[in-house]
Amino acid sequence: MNVVSAFTQTSSTPVLVAEHLTKHYRIRRGLFGHGVVKALNDVSFSLEAGKTLAVVGESGCGKSTLARQLTMIETPTSGRLLIDGCDVAQADRAQRAALRRRVQIVFQNPFASLNPRKTVEATLAEPLIVNTSLNTQQRAARIEAAMQAVGLRSEYRKRYPHMFSGGQRQRIAIARAMILEPDIAVADEPVSALDVSIQAQILNLFMDLQERFGTSYVFITHNLAVARHIAHTVMVMYLGGIVEFGDTKALFERPRHPYTRALMSAAPMIRTTERMDERKTRLEGELPSPLNLPGGCAFHQRCPHAVERCRSEVPPLRNVAQRRIACHRVEDLSDT
Ligand SMILES: Nc1ncnc2c1ncn2[C@@H]1O[C@H](COP(=O)(O)OP(=O)(O)OP(=O)(O)O)[C@@H](O)[C@H]1O
Ligand SMILES: [Mg+2]
Repeated sequence: MNVVSAFTQTSSTPVLVAEHLTKHYRIRRGLFGHGVVKALNDVSFSLEAGKTLAVVGESGCGKSTLARQLTMIETPTSGRLLIDGCDVAQADRAQRAALRRRVQIVFQNPFASLNPRKTVEATLAEPLIVNTSLNTQQRAARIEAAMQAVGLRSEYRKRYPHMFSGGQRQRIAIARAMILEPDIAVADEPVSALDVSIQAQILNLFMDLQERFGTSYVFITHNLAVARHIAHTVMVMYLGGIVEFGDTKALFERPRHPYTRALMSAAPMIRTTERMDERKTRLEGELPSPLNLPGGCAFHQRCPHAVERCRSEVPPLRNVAQRRIACHRVEDLSDT
């Protein structure tokens, strides 16, 4: 089976395909020892043009590690990444540079991600100078259009980041990511550092830009309400792996994996059509360390439904109920 048909349910060609993506970090432990942090393990998914995939999961589950692989900031330990069908690992220098332009990133904290010594104009000109042959006048026109697209008045172009509010700074960061009209934008907790009142405005801006430019998003958030609002598809991660992946509406209405249920029952704003009280799965116990992953299902130590098999056998991600789930027991749990 080819890569494209293996990970998609529809016929349109995905703009991004991750195939068994794995990232392990070797770290020093003590004076002479070494350890391996298994931050990302065998992650496969695809993303269609113009769609949004939300990535959710507890702190440390590998969301930012995934973002760094998708944006080519790091090289995966194993697995493949295809952008518009092009295998990143096989690309030569020029091709890689071209691919980098097509995948942009927006970070959580616009206070840190913007250079305080650069005006908005200089910040937005930089990607154009590096990646295009536009002349000064053409660049100025692109900068003005980008500022307008994110709702910033063009007379602000000579201002420095400290002269803006948090929401406006994130608009600058979004303009910088979008100015090269990328196919894919990876946003790593892009609204978490903002006031709640500003978060909705920035989410709506992301959605407007997607409608206008057809950009695909990988939208990382620990906030389930945000994921539900913005995403077409949701990927739930636990200890570096996917536990549940599916259509947003279906997944929120009827979460199936015990971990997804636990996450949702811990989020007061999420109402599912299920009677969650009965189904409540509390997240008990500590999150195990990715330095020492448990055998079998990574979630078994915290799962109230775990049986012997869960302790010994890694559950494969398989198609169940119009989604993909990694749980041995999902069929047994469906009407408990
Ligand atoms: N460069 C690195 N070297 C060693 N370990 C790392 C490195 N980067 C990340 N890790 C570890 O990998 C795991 C996943 O980290 P990651 O930052 O991807 O999680 P996250 O889901 O983004 O968490 P958060 O929600 O807190 O941002 C963590 O245990 C982290 O400590
Ligand atoms: Mg992170």
